[in-house]
Amino acid sequence: MVTVFLKNDNLKVKAPLGTSLRQIALKSGAAMEFGCRVGDCGTCIAHVTSGMEILNTKSDKELHVLEMLGGNVAQLRLMCQCEVRCEEGEIEISYGL
Ligand code: FES
Repeated sequence: MVTVFLKNDNLKVKAPLGTSLRQIALKSGAAMEFGCRVGDCGTCIAHVTSGMEILNTKSDKELHVLEMLGGNVAQLRLMCQCEVRCEEGEIEISYGL
């Protein structure tokens, strides 16, 4: 299981391979906000402070939206587009940038 630390809410959640970050946010009650849920609006932008390698890679569409929103794109993700892609590890996320 992967441990996901949702910094803003001080929550640690265990997540199996294949779990989406949106599922994790909804199940844990985290205050992460979502809009379109398909990677268009950028509402769910978050800063992955560690464990980026545990998540799926960014699609061209996600990368384009992140570039439009600005900041350090290497550490940013859209939570509605993220999925756990490893069996073990730790991910730390802050949101509402
Ligand atoms: S909710 Fe719109 S991009 Fe994630």
